[in-house]
Amino acid sequence: MKLVGPGDSPYDAAPMAPLRQRLTRLAALVGSSLLLASCAVMEIEDAPLTTFEPAGPFADRIDGLFWVVFWIATAVFVLVMGAVIVIVVFFRDKEGRQEPKQTHGSPKLEVVWTVIPALILAGIAVPTVSAVFDLTGCSEDAMQIEVIGHQWWFEYRYPDAGIDTANVMVIPVDEEVCLEMTSDDVLHNFWIPSLMGKRYLVPGQTTLLRMQADEPGEYWGHCAEFCGLSHSLMRARVVAMDGADYDAWVGRQQAPATLPAEGTPEWDGYQVFVNKGCVQCHTVRFDDDSASNVLSADAFNGPDLTHFASRATFAGATMPEQGQTYEAALKEWLSDPPNVKPGSFMPNLALTEQEIDALIAWLGSNQ
Ligand code: CUA
Repeated sequence: MKLVGPGDSPYDAAPMAPLRQRLTRLAALVGSSLLLASCAVMEIEDAPLTTFEPAGPFADRIDGLFWVVFWIATAVFVLVMGAVIVIVVFFRDKEGRQEPKQTHGSPKLEVVWTVIPALILAGIAVPTVSAVFDLTGCSEDAMQIEVIGHQWWFEYRYPDAGIDTANVMVIPVDEEVCLEMTSDDVLHNFWIPSLMGKRYLVPGQTTLLRMQADEPGEYWGHCAEFCGLSHSLMRARVVAMDGADYDAWVGRQQAPATLPAEGTPEWDGYQVFVNKGCVQCHTVRFDDDSASNVLSADAFNGPDLTHFASRATFAGATMPEQGQTYEAALKEWLSDPPNVKPGSFMPNLALTEQEIDALIAWLGSNQ
């Protein structure tokens, strides 16, 4: 067996590529990185979860801060890389060049390159810290919405209007919304990138975050903290409406459910809901308590279904998927929820096709 000696190293054998070749390789690397970056930018246009399209004053604030930091970082990058390139090109090893004088430590230099970054960081900290405090403390007259994280869906309560809904949060435009957030089980994180920052939902604690939308529209969000098996399927929507539309929505949500007429498919669906175990977790609010199966709020751990069909999405705002009809999605979901959302606490109740069709008819009438 031959041992590898100093002269046998492949690095010793291969001569250094000429400078021009090395620079060409560097240029190719930089070029392909830029290409990849531009692909990422193109993707953003059809990515609903982007912080680069702020749609309200609080998201604007975060976006503004990002660009300040970005340009400072860019300036530092250009200066440092520029200096590196200059040094590499002008002080490279050449025939007959002496080894430079070897020194260890220079107090003057050490102080300079410690103080400059410290000053830059201190400068960035001023607007950052003030934004953090501003965005996590609400104005006194802000509209209040409670956000409660569950594995794996978001619940929204409107204490002033007495509304309890899920997955889709409806807000009026041009009005500050104060989110009072907590969690029912583990850590979650509520994040609607176009409208606000993100913050933890902590069991047993209340955290605040301000949100506001400038224009009517639908804004997408996501749970931003790993919270178990179906974390990636814990999504959220915020729908911003003009004042009049919002008031009409509130009126509809406040209305109680109506009991379907006996003998209709909706009635059959309601019977499935009552007799097959759905009521263990889900609430439907009727006007007349005797006709209802309202559970106490404490026992409740599934979304309120009183106005289920008024929400364009369900199952943690993941369904219907693109190209899927609402009915087909509901059928898939009700047939086997844990198959759609792994780990789902909504069990497979082994419903028959008939029962599922009836449930869909009844749920569809819960506008
Ligand atoms: Cu909730 Cu991730």
